Order: sequence, then structure tokens, then C-alpha cells
Amino acid sequence: MEKKRIGILTSGGDCSGLNAVLRGASRAADKLGWELIGFRDGFEGLLPPGDYTILDRRATAGIMHLGGTILGTVNKGHFVAKVGAGDVMAIPPDIIAKARQTFDALGLHALITIGGDGSLSTALQLHEEGFPVVGVPKTIDNDLEATARTFGFDSAVACVADALDRLHTTATSHKRVMVLEVMGRHAGWIALHGGLAGGADVILIPEIPFEFAKVADEVMRREHEGAKSTMIVVAEGASSKDGRQKRHSTASGEHRLGGIGEIVGREIGERTEKEVRTCVLGHLQRGGAPTTLDRILGTTFGVKAVQLVAEGRFGTMVSYQNYVTMDVPISHAVHKLRRVSPDCQMVETARAVEISFGD
Ligand code: F6P
Repeated sequence: MEKKRIGILTSGGDCSGLNAVLRGASRAADKLGWELIGFRDGFEGLLPPGDYTILDRRATAGIMHLGGTILGTVNKGHFVAKVGAGDVMAIPPDIIAKARQTFDALGLHALITIGGDGSLSTALQLHEEGFPVVGVPKTIDNDLEATARTFGFDSAVACVADALDRLHTTATSHKRVMVLEVMGRHAGWIALHGGLAGGADVILIPEIPFEFAKVADEVMRREHEGAKSTMIVVAEGASSKDGRQKRHSTASGEHRLGGIGEIVGREIGERTEKEVRTCVLGHLQRGGAPTTLDRILGTTFGVKAVQLVAEGRFGTMVSYQNYVTMDVPISHAVHKLRRVSPDCQMVETARAVEISFGD
């Protein structure tokens, strides 16, 4: 097969497993006798003259177990095609022209873009502008459409479960209520899976608005039954039925979530007169070594992305369905999020083991 040069980049928020994808893609490209180059800092690396590094076998050796991305990433910059759920913006024509200049100057055959909804929206626009693009889905939130799993999610869930295990022993010793705020802007997958795995008693997610009174009742019901502690997991995007959600805007106009744990903690403390402590897990969920599942998923996704390039299946994204890694059009994955359905099996299972959703 003719020697080709392909590019790869990591874009948007980082997560555990990105380096496994880079390593997998590097080895798959090497097998084909191709050269893989990695652009630094997401799409920004595409700006002329191109900021990149050669990702040969040596450059990607020993990185699979490392969190973050050796290429660096940004979730802002010149290529932002989307701000928030549903708001689609276009990349300006002069930026597209600059990316094309770099792409042509480097003689690239294709570009593999690893990212979530926003970054894949950028990838889709580049594809529509004629760039041969293949996408790899990434988000710890696991809320991308058209794939049952994204790497980074399992590592985040493991982090939540570990935090709950630790909080549980101190909560029980002091007979306290513990509130753990976890990530999940629009979807409660991390809270749901992490809460289930870590033995939470209450899980509050964006898809199921809750009532403070119901949460307080659950705390008291448990106490009357002799429970020594109550563990509450709340997703950062959860909101009460009366519409209370913690969201603040930054100087750059960005909407950030965070702080709902504090509100829940205060309300439940006042309503139950119990001692409550709140812990915000934050970016701990995004850092650190990937779980074995995320290493395997990342490797599989990297290899599959190179295969898709070899088959000329541009405009597609790697997708994981029913234990098989396949491909779907990128357009099927973006501009809408896969959220937790309030009547899905996982929610039913949680309710069956007496987890309350505060509804
Ligand atoms: O989209 C992934 C995510 O981890 C969200 O759950 C969270 O709100 C956000 O990223 C935080 O991003 P930043 O790195 O900008 O703080």
C-alpha cells in the first residue's frame, strides 16, 4: 500500500483513555507503513504552519496508562463550532482556509479527530468543506448519540465509586449525610452508574427533576430504619422541580455548572437537622490512569479509526454498539445528546435496590 501521512488530534475536555487511542492509531498506521502526525492543542494545531509532532511507535510507547493527552487539547479557540447543547456555530471561512493550507502543505491524506459533541461538530463541518475526516467519540459524560460507550466514562465512574467508598466510612462513623457532586452537565450517566457502583442512597440527575422534601424524607426514612448514613450523589446539571440549578457565567460568556451539591447539602441539613457534608469531585473524574476497559476501548477506537481511513470511509465516526466497534456517519452523533431515559433499565434497577431519585 502507498505510504500515506495522516493527522490526528485530541479536542475538547480531556479524559482518561485519549493516549490509548493515540497509541492504537499509531501502531495501526505503522503496520500499514503510514506516518501519523499529531496536532497539538486540538484543531489549533492546524493553523499555519501547523503545530505537530510525529507519532511513531517510539513516541507513543508507554503512554497507554497515562491520563490526559500527550498532544494537549483546548475546548475554546478558533475552531469552536458549537457553544452549549444545541447551539451550532460555523467555523469562519478564513479559519477553514488556514486549516486547508496546513493540510495541503503537509500532504495529509486524512485527519482523525478525537472529541465530544462540540469537537465532532467541528469535524463534521470540516468534512462538509471537503476535508477527509474520521471521528473518534470521546466524553467522560457518555452522552454522545450513536455510540453506546465513550472511553473516559468508565474511568470517571470508577473515580465516583471510589470516592463514595471513602466517604461512606467517614459518613457512617459520624452518622452524617454526605453529598457528592459529580460531573454531568446535561446527562446523568456518571451520577447514575457511579452512584449504583458506589452504593449511593439518593441519585439526582438532570433528567429527573427532584424535590428537596422527597430527598429529606428519604434521609429521615433511612434514619428511622437504623441507617447510619445517607449518601447522596448529585450531577452538576441536576435541578430541583422548583428550577434551582447552579449555573454561572464566566467573563468569556461561558456557562459553567457546579454548586448544586452545596445547595442540596444546605437544604437537606436545614430540613432534617442532620449534619451534612458536601464534597465536589470535579476534575478528579477527568484525570488519572484509565481503567482497563478504557484502555481497551481507546486502543480499539484508535485502530478502527485508521481502518476507516484505509477504507476511505470519511465523514464517519467510530462507534461502539453491542460489543462491536463499527462506524456511523458523524452527523448521527452530533447536535443532540443521549440522555438518561427516566424509565430505562438502569433507573429501574436503581429504584429496585431502593435508590431514590428525589422525585
Ligand atoms: O463535558 C465534559 C465535562 O467534564 C462536563 O461534565 C463538565 O461540566 C465540563 O466538562 C467541565 O469542563 P472544563 O474543563 O471546561 O472545566
